[in-house]
Amino acid sequence: MFKRWKNLRRRSSSKTEPQFPTVSLTNSMPAHVAIIMDGNGRWATKRGLPRTLGHREGVNKVREVTREAARLGIKVLTLYAFSTENWKRPEEEVGFLMNLLEESLNNEIEELHKNNVVVRVSGRIHELPSALREGFHGAEEKTRHNTGLILNIALNYGGRAEIVDAARRIAAMAREGKVAVEEIDEELFSRYLYTAGLPDPDLLIRPSGEMRLSNFLLWQSAYAELYMTPVLWPDFGPADLREAIQAFQKRQRRFGGLGV
Ligand code: FPP
Repeated sequence: MFKRWKNLRRRSSSKTEPQFPTVSLTNSMPAHVAIIMDGNGRWATKRGLPRTLGHREGVNKVREVTREAARLGIKVLTLYAFSTENWKRPEEEVGFLMNLLEESLNNEIEELHKNNVVVRVSGRIHELPSALREGFHGAEEKTRHNTGLILNIALNYGGRAEIVDAARRIAAMAREGKVAVEEIDEELFSRYLYTAGLPDPDLLIRPSGEMRLSNFLLWQSAYAELYMTPVLWPDFGPADLREAIQAFQKRQRRFGGLGV
């Protein structure tokens, strides 16, 4: 699926994809796009299918949207794949999602690597089943010297948990005298988040019609432009990504200033 990425830059992403909405490749392209992949269950239920098939279709969209993000020159794509709260789902669905993530990573890693993608994972990774944990660590290791799109998978991720984890690490440093309390500022704090070294998201997309952040990138999204759409994730394709970016390109970002 990721094959022939190099040739995709100047072509439409597929024959069935409409050429519009047009996205300016030079003007204010978001460096970091973050997506809450929501609506898989509803997509399946609407069709009388088991929820698991919605998740499978969701993986197809991960592939298509990742490829389009690379084609557009986006630097970082963060995808919310599993939250710290998703463990509350029935055991069977959680097990299915863990297997699906492992299987998808195994299926895609070679193509991702060939296409210069850097795989990163953000979350409480140590709490994941060992095969999945090792799979993602291996993918991070394999792709760490690549220079293309950074695909950051938020896995067992919670924004509050991330802030607590950072606070604990900084407090431990302070206790050991390795950091002075006065030195703790926003820049230092950011370096202890899972996303250390990544720019904050410019554009945060939530499909499926929900109007909330659901504990996603709470610190990092302070000035992200939000784009909510009723389209369910398994229906969200490259054209929808371009539409979101086009909306982003019309926004005036002021970051608390006057925007002049
Ligand atoms: C939310 O839909 C979706 C999830 C909790 C899982 C998303 C995970 C994937 C698509 C797999 C990702 C794979 C890779 C390789 C990153 P939902 O179940 O909450 O839908 P609903 O709100 O309609 O019930």
